[in-house]
Parts: sequence; C-alpha cells; structure tokens
Amino acid sequence: MALRGRRILLIIAGGIAAYKALELVRLLRAEGVGVTPVLTRAGAAFVTPLALQTLAESPVYSDLFSLTDEATIGHIQLSRAADLVVVAPATADLMAKMAAGLADDLASTLLLATDKRVLVAPAMNVRMWQHPATVANVATLRARGIAFIGPEAGEMACHEYGPGRLAEPAAILPAIAALLEDEKPLAGRHAIVTSGPTHEPIDPVRYLANRSSGRQGHAIAAALADLGARVTLVSGPVALPDPPGLTTSHVETASEMLAAVRAALPADIAVCAAAVADWRVEGIAGQKMKKTASDTPPALRLAPNPDILATLAAPGPDRPRLVIGFAAETEHVAQHAGEKRRRKGCDWILANDVSPGSGIMGGAENAVFLITDEGAETWPRMPKEALARRLAARIAATLAARPGN
Ligand code: C5P
Repeated sequence: MALRGRRILLIIAGGIAAYKALELVRLLRAEGVGVTPVLTRAGAAFVTPLALQTLAESPVYSDLFSLTDEATIGHIQLSRAADLVVVAPATADLMAKMAAGLADDLASTLLLATDKRVLVAPAMNVRMWQHPATVANVATLRARGIAFIGPEAGEMACHEYGPGRLAEPAAILPAIAALLEDEKPLAGRHAIVTSGPTHEPIDPVRYLANRSSGRQGHAIAAALADLGARVTLVSGPVALPDPPGLTTSHVETASEMLAAVRAALPADIAVCAAAVADWRVEGIAGQKMKKTASDTPPALRLAPNPDILATLAAPGPDRPRLVIGFAAETEHVAQHAGEKRRRKGCDWILANDVSPGSGIMGGAENAVFLITDEGAETWPRMPKEALARRLAARIAATLAARPGN
C-alpha cells in the first residue's frame, strides 16, 4: 500500500462513532502513516485529546484562535501539510458547513483552506442522513470531487436501523490508500470501454451509422489508463487516433463489438460509451445493390442488435464490478435515464441531452447527469476530457471504498 511515510490530517467530529477514530489512528500508525488529529468541540465530548495524542503520537489541534498553535503551525499551513484530509466521523452539521463554505471553527476552516483531496466518512442517525438537506449537501460535496466512504447500514446507537453507521476503520484504510495512490489508483484493474458508432452494412459499400465521434469514449479510456488501469478500448469506426498506453480493438458492427467485449472479459470496470446502432440490416446484399430506372427503391428489413451494455450488466460470474452506460436523451433526461439504468441493470448511467442545438453529439463538450442508486447528480458542461477525468476519479474512489475490492 502507498501508505508508509504519508501524512493524514484527521478531523474527528462529534458523534458516538468518534470512538472508532481511535482505531483508525491505530491502524494508520501501524502502516507507518503520520496522523495529525483535529478534534471539533463536539468530537472532544466523545474522545479525549489525551487518548488521541497518545495513539497519534502528535499534538491534537482543536482551537482556531490558539495563540500557541498558531505560533507553531498556522491553520493554513496545517491544512496543507498533509497528503490527504480525512473526516471520520463526519456529522451532518460539518458536511453542511463544508457545502456552504462556512469556517467558524478550526475543522471547517481547515476544510475550506486545504488544497488536498478530502475523504469524508459520515456517521449519523439514519433520518439525518436521509434528510433532503443532507442529501443535497452530500451531492454538492461529491460534485466538488470530495470522496466518500459509507455510511454503512446497520443498527445504530439510537436503536434505529438503516444507513448511518461509520464505515469500519478497516474499510476506511484501503480507501485512504487508494486516494494517496492518486497517481495510479486503478493499478491492477482492467477496464473495458466501448466507443464510437457502429456501422451496420447494407451491401458491400453502404451502411447505417450515426453521428457519434468517439471523443467521449476515447477520452474515458485515456483517463482510466492515466489512473493506472489496464484498458481495452473497443472502438467502432472513428476518425480519432488510438490513445497511447492502452489496447484498442477495432470493430465495425454491433455484433463484432459484443464479440470483442466478450473476448476482453474479465474486467473490473465496463464503460459503454459507444453509440451502438439499435438495428442491423437483415439479409445484407452480397453485391452492391444496383439502381435501375424502373426500380422502386429497395426496402430495408431491420433486425435488433444485441445490447452490449445489458449483456455486460447481467448478473453472472463475469459481470464487471462497475458497469456504466450512457443515455442520450432529448427530453426528461434524468427521468428517462433512471428508467434506462433499471432496465439495463447497470450501476451508473451518464445521461446527456442530445436535443438539436445542444451541440453535444460530435462536439467538444458534454454536460451530464450521473445517475446512481443514490439518485441523480448534475455535472456542469465541461470539455469531454475533463468529464472523463472526473468520471475516472469517481470510479477509482468508488472501487476503493467498496468492501471486498
Ligand atoms: O438503449 P440506448 O441505446 O439508449 O442505451 C444507451 C447505452 O447502452 C449506452 O451506454 C450504449 O453504449 C449502450 N448500448 C449498448 N448496446 C446496444 C445499445 C446501446 O451497449 N445495442
């Protein structure tokens, strides 16, 4: 693990789960990680500075206006001196402050001032977690690139049942390692990405196709490879060069794309960004179809193509852990995409508005909703490469945070 010698700024907020932060400190220290603890006022009601200081072998910071602390290490410096900021447990209150940009105590000030990645491990009563205010705050923080682990479902200290328990320290540790390995958090993972259109032949010279450029899929393949994944890009006919550092398999038709995807399994991640033709032509003419003066134009009979995304997402031993599809919609984008996610059985859908005038199909930018089992997140319009990097980082954080991965 990429842990030895790294330094974590560990913010411990109030809540009964704060006692588990002591176990997290112990695990981190055993891995050779330096821990600088920051205790909120509420956190100090649950764990003592002395216990923390002893386990962390470091001074504990809790006061924004401490003359002695500010003299030794100012709060801005404190927020930057670590490799990663971890908030465990994070309360609904602290997350609300983070979302709003408030800075009225040391913990919230550090979170506003830091230039490092932040991992948040929430713990709270299930109703507080499910409250629309908390849901909105979590969505805001996620959209800003904050990584989350948990909460887990189970019985709570208040005897209610549901999601709200702090992730186990043993699960937080690998999530920390993955974020610290941020240069290559997907090392050892295999990703299959489909990209581009498919061409469905009518005869030896004609085909059915669509306007997909392959830009988004190719950018996602490159972004996953940048994070260390071994990537198999299965590309329909595009005018783009093969991205460096990964394997590109070139196909024409949907059937060939499915065969290439199957041949590339097993994989940890599948991203189906290809605009696969829904239909192929039945009875492809062996020779170029001729037009004659008297002829009525030929009628094309179409047959449905295999659904590559649904095939990959179907339960079974070969199912990648994270199967992600796209949904190009022209109206009610998030709603239709949510239905598509259920229908196809995939984990996430990136839904975009391809209505005429959006300029997205074939363009340089994309704006999407990310639909997961937790709901819809809005990602603002950005270059397709930036969206690809954000998706790849999200994939890395999610795989790192899942128990058993
Ligand atoms: O059903 P629809 O074409 O709208 O679904 C879009 C999603 O499904 C995209 O992720 C696309 O790559 C995938 N797809 C597929 N095989 C098909 C049709 C769509 O993998 N035959």
